[in-house]
Amino acid sequence: MTLAHESVATPDGVVPPRFRPPAGSGDAPVVSLDGEWRFRLFPRADTGVDRADPGTDWDRLAVPGHWQLAGAPHTWPYGTPAYTNVVFPFPVDPPHVPDENPTGEYRTTVRLPADWPADGRTVLRFEGVDSWFQVALDGELLATSHGSRLPTEVDLTGHLRPGADHVLAVRVTQWSALSYVEDQDQWWLSGIFRGVSLEHRPDGGLDDVRVHAAYDHTSGTGTLRVDAAAVVGAEGVVDARVTVPELGLEGRSGEELTALVEPWSAERPRLYDVVVATDTETVTLAAGFRTVAIEDGVFLVNGRPVKLRGVNRHEFDPLRGRAVTPERMLEDVLLMKRHHVNAVRTSHYPPHPRFLDLCDRYGLYVVDENDLETHGFEVDGWVANPTDDPAWTDVLVDRVTRMVRRDAHHPSVIMWSLGNEAGTGQNVARMAQAVRELDPTRPIHYEGDWSSEHVDVYSRMYAPTEEVELIGQGIEPPFERADADGRRRGLPFVQCEYAHAMGNGPGGLSEYDALFDRYPRLMGGFVWEWIDHGLTRTDDAGREFAAYGGDFGEALHDGTFIADGLLLPDRTPSPGLVELAAVYAPVRVDARDDGSLLVRNRYAFRDTGHVELRWTLHRGADELAAGALDLVLEPGTEAVVRPPADLMLPDPGPEPVWWTVRAVQDKADALDEGWVEPGLVLGAGQLLLVDRAPLAAPSGRVTATDEGGFRAGPALLGARGELLELAGRTVHAFRVDAWRAPTDNDRRPGRGQGQSDEQTWYRAGLTLLGERVSGVETLPDGALQVASRVSGPAVRTGFDVRTRWQPSGAGDDAVDLVVDVRPEGPAPENVARLGLLLALDVPEAAGTGVRWAGLGPEESYADSTRAALGGAWQHTVTDWQTPYTHPQENGARRGVTSAVLTFADGSGLRIDAGDTTVGASTRQGIELSLRPWSDQALDRAAHPHELVPDGRLWLHLDAAQHGVGSAACGPGVLPDARLRATPFRLRLRFTAV
Ligand code: GAL
Repeated sequence: MTLAHESVATPDGVVPPRFRPPAGSGDAPVVSLDGEWRFRLFPRADTGVDRADPGTDWDRLAVPGHWQLAGAPHTWPYGTPAYTNVVFPFPVDPPHVPDENPTGEYRTTVRLPADWPADGRTVLRFEGVDSWFQVALDGELLATSHGSRLPTEVDLTGHLRPGADHVLAVRVTQWSALSYVEDQDQWWLSGIFRGVSLEHRPDGGLDDVRVHAAYDHTSGTGTLRVDAAAVVGAEGVVDARVTVPELGLEGRSGEELTALVEPWSAERPRLYDVVVATDTETVTLAAGFRTVAIEDGVFLVNGRPVKLRGVNRHEFDPLRGRAVTPERMLEDVLLMKRHHVNAVRTSHYPPHPRFLDLCDRYGLYVVDENDLETHGFEVDGWVANPTDDPAWTDVLVDRVTRMVRRDAHHPSVIMWSLGNEAGTGQNVARMAQAVRELDPTRPIHYEGDWSSEHVDVYSRMYAPTEEVELIGQGIEPPFERADADGRRRGLPFVQCEYAHAMGNGPGGLSEYDALFDRYPRLMGGFVWEWIDHGLTRTDDAGREFAAYGGDFGEALHDGTFIADGLLLPDRTPSPGLVELAAVYAPVRVDARDDGSLLVRNRYAFRDTGHVELRWTLHRGADELAAGALDLVLEPGTEAVVRPPADLMLPDPGPEPVWWTVRAVQDKADALDEGWVEPGLVLGAGQLLLVDRAPLAAPSGRVTATDEGGFRAGPALLGARGELLELAGRTVHAFRVDAWRAPTDNDRRPGRGQGQSDEQTWYRAGLTLLGERVSGVETLPDGALQVASRVSGPAVRTGFDVRTRWQPSGAGDDAVDLVVDVRPEGPAPENVARLGLLLALDVPEAAGTGVRWAGLGPEESYADSTRAALGGAWQHTVTDWQTPYTHPQENGARRGVTSAVLTFADGSGLRIDAGDTTVGASTRQGIELSLRPWSDQALDRAAHPHELVPDGRLWLHLDAAQHGVGSAACGPGVLPDARLRATPFRLRLRFTAV
């Protein structure tokens, strides 16, 4: 028995899909039906509720919205969200779904406004309903539809009487046959989650308007053609007047009109008003003239190669799920623009149409993706996959067609994507063919088609840099079929997903970006993904936190994999986004080995006339001199710059001196308006001009204490050389450390890696390191030397440690420490860190102030350090932490040459770092981390709010830390950023202040 919602049929009783002019662009009346509707949830789809029942005494539910989030963040009156990535949360039994199938009955009253025109037609429009629904008016079933992220229109003409109230009933099931093709990696959330409206369609009006606006870069000519048609009721071509007042263009629909224009691009999103009018309707459309092409395997916009510096965006709001508000959409666009993202893939479905309006207006290249993913079939080797089943052809073609019809108007859309992770099969060809017929002007993308037979670009996800480099050169390993290989090799290459931004990371962005710049075939890529989908909920104590898979008690779930974005759920940029902004910088400023900076204009269309290259010479945060460089670069050009020859450099002092150049945009013309904030930094780089003054050799002498221990300035040590007190504070831990609270990336083996870094460290005993002292002696120069071995259980792997304490001078306030460490025994593949762990008694550790000279202000790791700049920065210990949705290692600051801690009682501790040696390399300063809790507590916590300060300040004074990589889904840490077990030396001075 196949129930209605299990039918694999295209929508029934609906208006044919059309290019509908954006809401608000025309003069035909539209009324919104958004607001409070009546609602009841039933456990099964065969609810038996009378469709004519107005539900007057039912609950109220906000439309648009998801019923599972109706009471968020406190209550869950209609079931809870559930998260799975790949697997279906029900048996794979297509097209059937479980009998237990939450079904929402929605009711509202529809009444035409008094001034509603008497002629023409009236259309009911749904922008998005998840997943399958039926529409009835006054008890009469009118339409059945699906395609959760696509519009559905129902012609109500003849059903609505002026002045009468009508009962609109919408039945929505959570599960349907269509759930099998909507298996995107996201929360399962249901309901009418986008707006609903009633629209008047005048007779002879513009139901269907499509603007074709192309640009010929050789002549500067824009070509405009507007096609107009009637679609609602009767179908046919409509003759309309077309004018572009700004260009003085006038003509008719169907005609080609030409003029010299300014083209549209993401850099210069120039739009023109195109007025299309019949006697009964006028619409004004924002049109952008631009042409997308692929020539000689290179992706071009308006004749120039363009690199897509993109992100994958799901629609997400921590309280509203995919029912995103216009404010959220704008926030996303502005955040992208301000972080130099120029492209967005709408993973994995067409976004709310308003988002595309914003992309047109502010300038973002869009890969618009079909609402199709069947990933759950992969588990069983893709058996019964709808993508290869003729029974599904019409449904799949229907949805891709509806996307193209809805969105073809947008200049921002530069490529169509047939879907995501839906395997291969005959329906790929059918969809591609349908898209080409509707729109031959845009390339087609589908990553699942590795043969690239049906698409216009070769697309992959998470290909490692080595492979991308081969692809860039066109020398990648051949595809098994020679014919397909030949064609594929001639296509441009895009990474539709790369650099998995889960938790702390991604590392290795710079390497990809450098390849994209180097090879014309590489058209860039889209980082996975924009935002952590952490839903706000409260715990038993009423505290809010961001929930991930399993937090709603789901029996089957994929845990933290839903939290893999560049933004935290509340849209706070993570350090990963700050790093991405520095890597994606349109004006790159990079240090070269010869003591100069290379400034590159990476715009395709824009010179740097709007950019001021401001430099400062600064010691820490103190500016010593400042100026601007007189340089305007044409698109795609570069120049080498150096500090002015007459720059007076100071002598070495307590902090290094940097020459920092920032490309600042402080001029915003009309096309930049609305997103450029004063002082927007488009790119920055720097040179270290004066090293910090070396620490003078210590000259004091360690003294014996009455208790049989030792005093070395502010350090009190026990008889076995154990550190008991520092600067008057009890020491709870002090030893060599090589472990960290694993990041999400550490927890998974990267592609091609046998075991995860977390396992590597566990097997080497690094999680449970302990110390055995083997000797304590005072040296003739007055120092105390402690010899020890640090190692974990069950293994021979360990570290031989020599620690030398010596008062810095005659006073009691400062002590020097030199630590020499040599790994012993079998070397693990890598270690998390090489350094010292120090835990001090600090009752109000979280409020401790810290000012440091080094890289900042955000955290940085060996492979995510492009955004960090040398200088002096300050924070509290609380602000130092990055509250990743899933707690893990965070907060390291690199190149720290000094740090001053100021405790709540006004006392303080200064830490100076001399040169650090790691293996054969010597570097300035240390990597510093501070926490008000231990790494073990950090590791144990499932959510940030579970972390409670323990009255101690936990410091890591590291020679080096392992990179972060992207192993959660992509490659692990690249060789240059991997930390091997290697000898290291730290030189530190602690001063009580
Ligand atoms: C990709 C997929 C995304 C997401 C990602 C992992 O394979 O296309 O939707 O699941 O992996 O976070």
